[in-house]
Amino acid sequence: MTAIEQAVRYHDGVEQKQENEDAMIDQIVASMGRVNRSVCDKHRHGMRDAHAKSHGILKGTLQVYGDLPEQLRQGVFAHPASYPAVMRLSTAPGDIHSDKIPAPRGIAIKLLDVPGPQLGADRQQARTQDFLLVNHPVIAFGHAAAYLKTQQLLEKHADDPDLARQATAALAHGGSKLLHAVGIANPILDTLGAPNSHILGVTFYSMAALRYGDYIAKICLAPLSDEVRALTGAALRSGAGDSELRDLVVDFFRTHGAEYELRVQLCTSLERMPVEDASIPWPEDESPYLPVAKLTIPPQEAYSPARRVFADDVLSFNPWHCIKAHRPLGSIMRARIRAYEASSAFRHTMNQQPRIEITHIDDVPN
Ligand code: HEM
Repeated sequence: MTAIEQAVRYHDGVEQKQENEDAMIDQIVASMGRVNRSVCDKHRHGMRDAHAKSHGILKGTLQVYGDLPEQLRQGVFAHPASYPAVMRLSTAPGDIHSDKIPAPRGIAIKLLDVPGPQLGADRQQARTQDFLLVNHPVIAFGHAAAYLKTQQLLEKHADDPDLARQATAALAHGGSKLLHAVGIANPILDTLGAPNSHILGVTFYSMAALRYGDYIAKICLAPLSDEVRALTGAALRSGAGDSELRDLVVDFFRTHGAEYELRVQLCTSLERMPVEDASIPWPEDESPYLPVAKLTIPPQEAYSPARRVFADDVLSFNPWHCIKAHRPLGSIMRARIRAYEASSAFRHTMNQQPRIEITHIDDVPN
């Protein structure tokens, strides 16, 4: 049987809350808030608690493929629709560091004009679907208890710039051998040490599971057109500056467009592909990532001052900005409900910006 034929059906019992989960999430959010406030004090500006540094803000279109099998024809991918999309490229730490220091890369995607009921009671007017992705297939701290332990470590070392910087990179969705030095041994971390390569050539993953309509899945976004595939593994330019990633993105999109493919890995066994521990890789030989849509990004000015301010200070991306058919699943996703809300509320208050959801792609300035 193929992975498609074996896809596990979604039901409410798929998620199982951890013992003391609410209390652990309270502690995660409180600790993140304390660190975030001190970063804000340093810069006199509200930053994202994770993925503070942006490297490009892009507009494009996501085209869902026709002729998908029923198991892949789900949620926003149910029809061969075309959605306007805005993307924010970032690196993981919750502070602004030099791009010479390797850090996990992120992309946040907001699709507009999506059909279907929204998940949040306060979002019934919204027509957006966000996907937040990082360039690793798993998150090393895959449930609330593990995440709390590392967050506490990060806070404890927040005044040590080097330690904090690397621990932040590790915590905020990647890995670092440094955590061994401060008392956390995790073999997964050693395999995640990311090379400092071109941000447009990486494959980005949801790392944690989400509801995929009647099924359960993880998703990824992979370079598709020749120009971005050629950047996979490409080292940063010699003499790279502190804002090298932004410079690479801006230079690229001044003269090129790009295509990426959105792919879906269906869960075919809840034992071997758990939703509650996002540190466990789902075996790709058992269930490969299957193409469902193409993201096309035309040439554009990727980091104008107006775009940067809008994306960094006004826009919010959040995995819980979604339709019911793409509900985030598992302990780490539940921790994100309050973490993103708290981070965005603080950032918007400190920068005195409105908390809005866009309705039209032209809301994003050029
Ligand atoms: C499961 C894997 C995860 C992925 C793929 C992921 C990815 C991302 C990305 C791409 C961003 C940048 C969003 C933007 O550009 O606006 C982000 C921001 C953020 N992440 Fe995560 N993340 C994950 C897990 C977590 C967890 C477990 C927490 C905390 C419990 C967390 C807390 C945050 C916060 C607070 C922000 C900033 C939100 C804001 O101020 O708007 N993330 N994440």
